[in-house]
Amino acid sequence: MHEVKEVSKVEITYEGKTLTYPVIEGSEGERAINMGSLRKDTKLISYDPGFGNTGSCISDVTFIDGEAGILRYRGYPIDDLANNCTFIEVAYLLINGELPTQEELTDFSRILNRKSLIHEDMRNFFRNYPEHAHPMAILSAMAVSLSSFYPELDRPAEEEVNVAAARLLSKLRTLAALSYKQSIGHPHVYPSSKLTYVENFLNMLFYTPVANYEVDPVTVRAMNKLLILHADHEQNCSTSAVRLVGSSGANLYASVAAGICALWGPLHGGANQAVIEMLEQIHREGLTIDQCIARAKDKNDPFRLMGFGHRVYKSYDPRAKIAKKACEDVLETMGIQDELLDIAVQLEERALNDEYFKERNLYPNVDYYTGITLRAMGFPTDMFTVIFAIGRLPGWIAHWLEQRADKDQRIGRPRQVYTGPTKRKILPIDQR
Ligand code: CMC
Repeated sequence: MHEVKEVSKVEITYEGKTLTYPVIEGSEGERAINMGSLRKDTKLISYDPGFGNTGSCISDVTFIDGEAGILRYRGYPIDDLANNCTFIEVAYLLINGELPTQEELTDFSRILNRKSLIHEDMRNFFRNYPEHAHPMAILSAMAVSLSSFYPELDRPAEEEVNVAAARLLSKLRTLAALSYKQSIGHPHVYPSSKLTYVENFLNMLFYTPVANYEVDPVTVRAMNKLLILHADHEQNCSTSAVRLVGSSGANLYASVAAGICALWGPLHGGANQAVIEMLEQIHREGLTIDQCIARAKDKNDPFRLMGFGHRVYKSYDPRAKIAKKACEDVLETMGIQDELLDIAVQLEERALNDEYFKERNLYPNVDYYTGITLRAMGFPTDMFTVIFAIGRLPGWIAHWLEQRADKDQRIGRPRQVYTGPTKRKILPIDQR
């Protein structure tokens, strides 16, 4: 793990005492006050709801400059990765720190293939879910259930890391496909050793014994791209959940299950489903673009422009640019005219020229265009966040491993400012 440099100091004067704290700097010049001893020195804690100003770790995995719209995994710009690599190469990069050589890639793919089956007994679990159970509910439960069938992955030795990662990457993809088949009541499809990771995923989702299904290279390319766009995003809500759960010593499966649950929310990965639902609502109810913009700005109206805004990006999300282009390419190649895309483009144009959105630096995020692409590929809306989860998995694994190896990490345990009742006496029940 790279060391941070101490570049300066900050003085804090509190109740007549001046305390000095080091300012540390990362490899891209990002600075932080190291306040690890603040409470010990002063009895003060920092209050930072949403952790917008709090660095929870030092990390080598992903760099974001939200003002400049930059995203890099292990130093490689996101558009270079999306245009030149497969998802599995990027997963290897995130987990190991370097892109694989041909030999390493062949070896990793072989392990992915070998680990792709799930224990037959696990298939019984699916039968007990009600029809139309949300696939994210099934996926999170299945992820944690893996720990009762396979080694717990508490602290894989260095030579076991790729096997542990491949097992999870491969099995979670199989489980995601099975959860979809279960939700529509279709027979489960097994992975095939003849197909690549992404081809297998599509085949397990869309093959049926009663219709021809040929994995289409356009869909494979687009899916690789979408998964790469989602593969990591430093300390976002779900990755922080994975790290927080992992910090208690919980195994990788349990930590990832927590990440899946965190991702499900509409403010995070669930936004891709929420975007399509919003566009469908606009289409169905015949809302005008002006009405939508007015409603999104009205604080008394729960309507928000889903797929817009981001905690970190204060300029165009670089992933959204790539996702928009991929969406247009897929629709054009497939010869699909989707009215929802027209609405999305008009809404974006209008919002980007509106003072409310300009003042607050609100731009489309990664989720704005991905749903339209997934819809064109044939995915039902409630599978969108599952695709995000499969994409984010290498990032979760990389962060979980990084945290395990970091000697400075302790159990995650924020504090609070208490505002409840002060000490009081219990009255006998007849006097309450
Ligand atoms: N529509 C309308 N107003 C918005 C929106 C939006 N989508 N997003 C933010 N704002 C307003 C917000 O009301 C606030 O206004 P004011 O300053 O007057 O109170 C201001 O912009 C700042 O927003 P915030 O909610 O304080 O920002 P945040 O950093 O806490 O939240 C966010 C970020 C992504 C949760 C939020 O922008 C949002 O809810 N967006 C819609 C959901 C969405 O697309 N989520 C996907 C995020 S990207 C992928 C991922 O992480 O999974």
